[in-house]
Amino acid sequence: MVEGSRAPVALVTGSARGLGLGVARALAQRGDRVHVVWRSSASSAERLEREFPGRVHRADLEDSTEVGRLVQEVLRQDGRIDHVVHAVGEYVSGPLSEASSHDLRRMLASNTETAFVLFEHVRAALRESRGRAVFFGCSGLAGFRARKTTAVYAAAKSALFVLVRSWALEEAPHGVTVNLLSPGHVPHEDAHPDTLDPERLAAIPAGRPGRPEDIAGAVAWLCSPEAAYTTGIDLAVTGGWML
Ligand SMILES: NC(=O)c1ccc[n+]([C@@H]2O[C@H](COP(=O)([O-])OP(=O)(O)OC[C@H]3O[C@@H](n4cnc5c(N)ncnc54)[C@H](OP(=O)(O)O)[C@@H]3O)[C@@H](O)[C@H]2O)c1
Repeated sequence: MVEGSRAPVALVTGSARGLGLGVARALAQRGDRVHVVWRSSASSAERLEREFPGRVHRADLEDSTEVGRLVQEVLRQDGRIDHVVHAVGEYVSGPLSEASSHDLRRMLASNTETAFVLFEHVRAALRESRGRAVFFGCSGLAGFRARKTTAVYAAAKSALFVLVRSWALEEAPHGVTVNLLSPGHVPHEDAHPDTLDPERLAAIPAGRPGRPEDIAGAVAWLCSPEAAYTTGIDLAVTGGWML
């Protein structure tokens, strides 16, 4: 563990709950100085303050001005950013024939545009630290699979995947790695009920749904020195779902 002012600085979004919170805890446990972000989970803010004292921020990642302010505040406090993990990303399901263009815009705004805007604001800091960025995809992106109920969501995640690979290409000469982490089904207190759908869970080859710790461990590895040469990948943490 690297202690004090030499410890890596991590910014984890979507960290009021769910997978982002799991990642924030795992990085803090190994000694990173972790900044967490909440948007509407005001009830979580007090608990977060106890766990991540002085490094809790409120920001709506769909607002570019707030993203700029967030990144500047992290830099003002700790002087650098080594790891950025972006766990924001809303979900919608249902047949494509019942989806609206509003659904598509929501998915693109939440899953794709927030990532784009965040990366614009952290790019310089990551180049400075030769840092790591990890974004969240969803299972089955590599195969461009057709979807019965998640096409609109997966379309937004697919767009993100192309951005991630392209950032990886552009940033590699600067020593920055950019990767996607794609969970399978990971139920948690606030997760969408689809993560508990018995039919889907029965189809997971590993015989169990994912746990937030499964995801956090993989993200922690992507943000470790051992992963310095790993960039532009979609790391599927799915227990074999959708292979
Ligand atoms: N759980 C799964 O099984 C699963 C499977 C595949 C992919 N994923 C992906 O993994 C990521 C995390 O999933 P999750 O289940 O932990 O999600 P989640 O429970 O919906 O949590 C999302 C977090 O993002 C925050 N957030 C949403 N919009 C925001 C915005 N505009 N600005 C700031 N914060 C915002 C929320 O904060 P507030 O509550 O404060 O608003 C919340 O803490 C997502 O990208 C998701 O698509 C999850």
